[in-house]
Amino acid sequence: MPDSTEAGLVERISGAVHSDRRHDSAHKHVTGEAVYVDDIREPAGLLHVYLGLSDRPHARLVSLDLSAVKSAPGVVEVVTAADVPGVNDVSCMGRHDEPLFADDLIEYAGQPLFAVAAETREQARRAARLAVATYEDLEPVLTLDRARERGTVVFPPMVLKRGESDAAIAGAPHRLEGRISIGGQDHFYLEGQIAMAVPGEDDEVLVHCSTQHPSEVQHIVAHVLNVPANAVAVEVRRMGGAFGGKETQANLFAATAAVVARKTGRAAKLRPDRDDDMVITGKRHDFEVDYRVGFDDDGRIRGVEFLFAARCGFAADLSGPVTDRALFHCDNTYFYEAVTAKSLPLKTNTVSNTAFRGFGGPQGMVAAERVIEEVAYAVGKDPLEIRKLNFYGGEGRDLTPYHQTVEDNIAPEIVSALEERSDYRARRDAIRAHNARGGWLRKGIALTPVKFGISFTATQYNQAGALVHVYTDGTVHLNHGGTEMGQGLYVKVAQVVAEEFQIDIEKVRVTATTTGKVPNTSATAASSGADLNGKAAQNAAATIKERLIGFAVENWGVPREQVVFLPNRVRIGNQEIPFGDLVRTAYMARIQLSSTGFYKTPEIHWDRAAGRGKPFYYFSYGAAAAEVTVDTLTGEYRVDRVDILHDVGHSLNPALDRGQVEGGFVQGMGWLTMEELWWDQRGHLRTHAPSTYKIPACSDRPRIFNVHLLENARNRKDTIYRSKAVGEPPFMLGMSVLHAISDAVASVGDYATCPRIDPPATPEKVLTAIESLRAGKRQA
Ligand code: MTE
Ligand code: MOS
Repeated sequence: MPDSTEAGLVERISGAVHSDRRHDSAHKHVTGEAVYVDDIREPAGLLHVYLGLSDRPHARLVSLDLSAVKSAPGVVEVVTAADVPGVNDVSCMGRHDEPLFADDLIEYAGQPLFAVAAETREQARRAARLAVATYEDLEPVLTLDRARERGTVVFPPMVLKRGESDAAIAGAPHRLEGRISIGGQDHFYLEGQIAMAVPGEDDEVLVHCSTQHPSEVQHIVAHVLNVPANAVAVEVRRMGGAFGGKETQANLFAATAAVVARKTGRAAKLRPDRDDDMVITGKRHDFEVDYRVGFDDDGRIRGVEFLFAARCGFAADLSGPVTDRALFHCDNTYFYEAVTAKSLPLKTNTVSNTAFRGFGGPQGMVAAERVIEEVAYAVGKDPLEIRKLNFYGGEGRDLTPYHQTVEDNIAPEIVSALEERSDYRARRDAIRAHNARGGWLRKGIALTPVKFGISFTATQYNQAGALVHVYTDGTVHLNHGGTEMGQGLYVKVAQVVAEEFQIDIEKVRVTATTTGKVPNTSATAASSGADLNGKAAQNAAATIKERLIGFAVENWGVPREQVVFLPNRVRIGNQEIPFGDLVRTAYMARIQLSSTGFYKTPEIHWDRAAGRGKPFYYFSYGAAAAEVTVDTLTGEYRVDRVDILHDVGHSLNPALDRGQVEGGFVQGMGWLTMEELWWDQRGHLRTHAPSTYKIPACSDRPRIFNVHLLENARNRKDTIYRSKAVGEPPFMLGMSVLHAISDAVASVGDYATCPRIDPPATPEKVLTAIESLRAGKRQA
């Protein structure tokens, strides 16, 4: 703990935990000095690799003539499935359903068929277009409707059930049912996929790769090359954004570069351009959710049923856990007296969908909020009232659909606080008055809550390792299994180590994540990076600190209570020596100054077959209130004001957490309002560049944006310094904008009808909803 000086001021090390420390690389991101994979000085003889893609969504590859590719200028090597020394497979869960290169069966338009390596990137890129493939077309499954008819799943569906929902719905005073379709989303990381493989001695290869999951890339490269895992090292200093899109999607690029490097003995780099990146890589799953709900006169939900059908694409990838997480969040902050939720992870002939911030959770919560909105219109109340009425809490109302008790529910408290802070009531009244005056510009407001479960639902992933060295000059080398993608994980973990040793953070160097230092790591995902790696690093540092204390006790002959770590120095008995001096003295006495650390999340367990357990260590909460103006002639809208109150526990770094809350909100808003993926009838993705795929720009940000972290918050669980995970939960705050748009649109029909706007609420969709309300009014 920090020491009080005589002046009564609290003396703190710089970069202590709970302080606003800027991102360690922020200045380098903006000056261009930060080294991403493509900035690494290129080894002599580097080859540039490009992928040749399938034109058909579902076909047999009858022939592939690569002669023109091979004879193109600068081309050195061409590799196909036949050139893969090991297993032609880059699937993430060992399901062997995702070939590196398609050989016989083609399952989506854009699937890689071969790779070409040339002296320059431009040569490789041009050569890749010269292949001549002949296909025998098979019938493609391109829509969820077709996929339902076909009924092929990529992963066994899951069912969550508590109580008898069918009877509860039948016996409820009111019932309704509907379907919401929820769009997918491209990750649009600023740095695209990239890998560079450098061959070493014997069978060794070093892979620099933009991946959230270095250990998985290591294993994929090993089995594609048919070498042991210990021959492969994977290193990543940072990613230029990932958002789940580099949890499994990096496998293909790394494996391709490695195959070329192995075959040619030269280093090889693969960086697809943005269009190919968007065509080749998986995205957020689009869903169709069928719901049926029974409720009473007040709007209290008696029973509810959901069927979550998801477009998974041609292979499983992470679709099992993603659709599971949708079910885990179909309650959001609400208690269902009786509930049945089922997943339907459908196979389609489109790119294999994958992780994306929230990992299916957002789709589950969007469905929950639609149900709330429907019930509110049915009983003629403010949706916020229905939300509050159905919150977890009160006698016997704390059990989730997966039979975990909600012990830390602060949703009611956060929502009330935000309601007050944002002046929700008065503004809602003013908006109603404004809309009652008529006119083309209508306003809307909505306040939506978020509850998000923290932990990987696959229990084994909830472990982490770290490696800490203390050098004799008193500086520290820190390594852990987590990866940096802009979220600020490195600086948070460095803060933890600085705190542990009570040394300024400038003395702690965070080094690139590599499989050679910390092995068998989990993907940096599920928002758990700081929770897991922070604890592991603390554990490593504590081990070294313990050795230093033991040494001091012996060397100076003092009781251990008299060895106290103060900022940048250590008090031993009644003398104080600099930290570095203690370290040097300990070294001379042959004390080990390096340690590994380890952590595994306690308490959690999950039985998927039974649909019961405690999959989450705790929950993160938040709420957002959004106000919008909709132009009812064009369907265009503007976000006028957003107020957010979000819970990050006792934040490790409030400045970074705020950034995560703001960024997450904007990305979530983009998903639900403007980002639209569009495949044509030939199964080609037509939205494959910023020209056709619109993400939020600066001008789309809320005009007024008040973001607050919940004050005096502490995680009730023993997480790292009582902080809470922040990476994904704020994404779902974006729901408030969708519901505010809906509220504005509803005014056109005098609030009699739930507008049922299916996200993304693009201006076209908004205008369509407005027109149907107008048509309904004319008929009435
Ligand atoms: N923030 C930035 N700047 N860039 C990213 O790619 N990914 C998000 C979130 N925040 C992401 C981000 C996702 S999907 C996750 S799971 C978490 O960060 C992962 O990091 P953490 O576990 O350290 O929070
Ligand atoms: Mo985040 S979708 O768990 O990488």
